[in-house]
Amino acid sequence: MSILTTLSRMWLTRSLNPFIFTDEYDNSLPFEDCSSLGLYVHIPFCRNICAFCPYCKQVYDESVCKAYIEALLNEIRMVTKDMKEKKKVTSLYFGGGSPALIADLLGEIIDLLKQHFIITEGIGVELHPEDIRDSTLSLLQEAGVSKLSIGIQSFHDKFLGILGRPPLNIEGMRETLERYSFETVSMDFIFALPGQTADDLKTDTELAFSIGANHIAVYPFIDFDFTSNKVPPMRKNEKRRLLDEITLHFEEKGYVRNSIWTFSNEENANYSSMTRDNFLGFGCSATTLLKDQFKINTFSVEEYCRRISQNNLPTSLTLHFSPRQRMIYYLFWTAYSTEVNPKNFEDFFHIPLKKVYGLEFFLAEKLGFFKKEGSCYKMTLKGAFYYHHYENFYTLSYIDKMWGIMKDEAFPSEIRL
Ligand SMILES: C[S@@+](CC[C@H](N)C(=O)[O-])C[C@H]1O[C@@H](n2cnc3c(N)ncnc32)[C@H](O)[C@@H]1O
Ligand code: SF4
Repeated sequence: MSILTTLSRMWLTRSLNPFIFTDEYDNSLPFEDCSSLGLYVHIPFCRNICAFCPYCKQVYDESVCKAYIEALLNEIRMVTKDMKEKKKVTSLYFGGGSPALIADLLGEIIDLLKQHFIITEGIGVELHPEDIRDSTLSLLQEAGVSKLSIGIQSFHDKFLGILGRPPLNIEGMRETLERYSFETVSMDFIFALPGQTADDLKTDTELAFSIGANHIAVYPFIDFDFTSNKVPPMRKNEKRRLLDEITLHFEEKGYVRNSIWTFSNEENANYSSMTRDNFLGFGCSATTLLKDQFKINTFSVEEYCRRISQNNLPTSLTLHFSPRQRMIYYLFWTAYSTEVNPKNFEDFFHIPLKKVYGLEFFLAEKLGFFKKEGSCYKMTLKGAFYYHHYENFYTLSYIDKMWGIMKDEAFPSEIRL
């Protein structure tokens, strides 16, 4: 692990203790009194596997998928069995993998969840470009899905080729999308690919808005150790120039920045499954965050189904946060929205932000990472770049290590990060 990540963790959590994940698991989850709860469901199947992709997935097989969905419905029944009344939740997101591969079954999962939860901010599904067809989109609309996130990556054949993807039928996509009215149509792009320029990204994102997107996500390319990716990552300075130039371009166009990586051309378009105070995750590799505990389900489809058939939850690892660890986790994800509101922090932790991280925010302001707007801290362009940069370290130090282990071991006994 990078020495920088370890030192900053020690400083910010005021402790030498690492994050310790153990194999403990419970048979009930204490979510009933958690506010601002989001729901996530993971579908780990794809038509083909992309070498660069770190997510938990395998090639689609009808009988394996059928057994998985049966287990998934049972996991939802187990988690909700003691609920006394319906609970309000913010949103429901289906991620993967390629959840639209089972568009005909999403309705059943949504209906079961709706027996226990009232979803107030919509239902989102991740799509592969091949899923943009009438048969899939009509099923999603019927099931009550209101947000789509399409993994375009690039409209340029050259970059699709680098990523091992075939060229796209852009006109066909535009015509199909025109026939439906989803509240949010988001398109994902990967930036910092070899030889990629700001003009390449500008044409990509303008094309996205012209064929039906009202929201875009521009992710920095990350070379995960445990994937078989062969695409070399871009150098830091070149990446910074690229990021600054496209961000300024989006600002000039008047797009709303909803988070570090996402922009929209309409005020109300949003797609975000990660910035919730608490969330419940169902399915392989799904994570659950409830007040001061964080849980991750097993990455193995086979072991997931086995655990559930034994009437046990498929949790693989649990972390109990110390109060400072929970604050850092909260601030990391709040800063992701490019704004930190001290009032929200105090409402959540019952202690003023100034009292616990006054020095850090003072320094961050002096270094030009944030500027004060009213009582809020707004992230600057410089701050956004360094957040990106730190996020890359964090991803490679924590997520890469943890997912690398979990990909090979269904239930590791302990992981220290
Ligand atoms: C779980 S994928 C799902 C999308 C859909 N299955 C597809 O491939 O079109 C979500 C997004 O993560 C991003 N992503 C995947 N691997 C990445 C990597 N190594 N670095 C940066 N972003 C990545 C891609 O933009 C992708 O669209
Ligand atoms: S990028 Fe999408 S299609 Fe490719 S392996 Fe990952 S989840 Fe599957």
